[in-house]
Amino acid sequence: MTSLYDRLGGDFLAAIITEFYDRAFKDPLIAHLFWGFDQKHLTEMQIQFASSMLGGPGPYRGKSLGQAHRQLKINQAHFGRRQVLMAEVLDEFQVDPDIKKQWLEREDRLKPLIVKGTPCNQ
Ligand code: HEM
Repeated sequence: MTSLYDRLGGDFLAAIITEFYDRAFKDPLIAHLFWGFDQKHLTEMQIQFASSMLGGPGPYRGKSLGQAHRQLKINQAHFGRRQVLMAEVLDEFQVDPDIKKQWLEREDRLKPLIVKGTPCNQ
């Protein structure tokens, strides 16, 4: 069966993620969480991760998502903002609505690995 990755194409996926990080690193609501991190490295890791998540050739060679985000104080609002930025980029690249929906759903399922804290900071 054709994977979501095959439907998108690897170069297209890389362009989407690159644009996404350009925005995330400048976004007033979440850019501070990226201070001191290497945008190029994160972009490369995220391209690997998203390729694997969408059924493309692997493997993802980065840190586990739990480990990568453990030291960061990411709350529900930060996560939600990230998903808004990602949705905007997917729309601007005119990604097929079915692929967009599945992409965001697969990422939403990762939230427990990334968002931490008690209800009072979410
Ligand atoms: C579905 C949601 C997310 C996914 C799939 C994801 C994926 C990743 C990946 C693949 C890495 C690279 C790990 C490595 O270097 O080996 C990473 C690191 C990182 N992510 Fe995320 N992430 C998500 C949400 C977020 C959010 C909401 C934020 C902040 C607003 C964030 C901030 C960071 C930062 C700062 C790092 C660098 C950590 C380090 O190198 O120690 N991520 N993420």
